[in-house]
Parts: sequence; C-alpha cells; structure tokens
Amino acid sequence: MTPLETLKAEHGIIHVMMKIFSRMVYKLREEQTIDWNHAEQVLDFLTGFIDENHHVKEEMLLYPAMEKAGISRDTSQISIMMVEHHSTRLFLFALQQALQKIKAGNNEFIPLFIKHANEYIDLKTHHTEKENKIVFAYAEESVPADAMEELKKEFQSFLQTEVRQGNMKRYQEMLQNLSGQYLKQSG
Ligand SMILES: [Fe+2]
Ligand SMILES: [Fe+2]
Repeated sequence: MTPLETLKAEHGIIHVMMKIFSRMVYKLREEQTIDWNHAEQVLDFLTGFIDENHHVKEEMLLYPAMEKAGISRDTSQISIMMVEHHSTRLFLFALQQALQKIKAGNNEFIPLFIKHANEYIDLKTHHTEKENKIVFAYAEESVPADAMEELKKEFQSFLQTEVRQGNMKRYQEMLQNLSGQYLKQSG
C-alpha cells in the first residue's frame, strides 16, 4: 500500500470506531449508563490508534514531505489539520478526566462525557473527510514519486516494532468486538 492508501485505510477504521462511539453515547444518553469498560476501550483506541499512530504518521512523515515539496504550513490546509489534531487531544483529555470521575461514582459527569464525545466524533469525522478529499489530493499532486517512495519506507519502518504490531492487532480485535456489541442491529 502507498502511504496515502495506508492513511485512507486507517480513516476507514476510524470511521467505524466513530460509529461505535456514537451508538455508545446515544445509549448512554437514553439509559444513563453503559458498560464503562467499553468506553475505556474507545478512549484507549483514540489514544493508541489515532493519536500515537495515525496522527504521528501524518505530523511526522506526511505533512513534512508535503512541506518539502513546497506546500507552506502557514498558508495551507496543513496548519488547519495540525490545529484539529490538537483539538482532538484536548477533547480526549477531557473525556479521560470525565471517565475517571464517573468510574469513581460521580455520575454528574455523564453529560460532560456525552458533550465531549460528540465534539470529538464531529471533529474527527469532518477532519478525515477533509484529508481524504483535499489534503491527500494536494499530497498526490505535490510530493514527487521518489519522495513518496521514501515515505512508504518510513511508514513501513514506523509499524515494524513489535509493540506497534501487537497494538495494531489488539485494536483490530477491539474494533471487531465493539462492532458486534454496538453495530449489529442495523449493520
Ligand atoms: Fe489528520
Ligand atoms: Fe488522518
């Protein structure tokens, strides 16, 4: 897979997790409770799969390759993408704080958890759509073939550590399990 195909495939995985999270939050609003271990798993995915894997590949590898190819960070979509990554980190931190309070028995934090979850889902959904339609198209046009080939090698070596491969396997299993729990009624 090319680097852009890898990132698009990850967007597909992220999209499924956003659907799961959205159903989970809906259930929480209706019933005022859920299996909090499931929420913990989602936050683990947002941390390990999205922030420490997907965002790192974009911020440390793809965006710099685009800048090298002449797309300025200041005047392009790249800076918007970076700000949006930062915002998802803030929402994630707020979600982690709220979940800790709820698990300690403070149910008054449930509305806050729902609010930040919806903010996260909305932002991430629009963000990945923008990357698919606009940012990756820029990358396709601007990054020359040899630089793209170099990027492909960097992507491969990024994923080659045992810890990262183990994590990817764990996140795939988590996604399958949560899909079975939250997406099975309507497919
Ligand atoms: Fe991104
Ligand atoms: Fe992305």
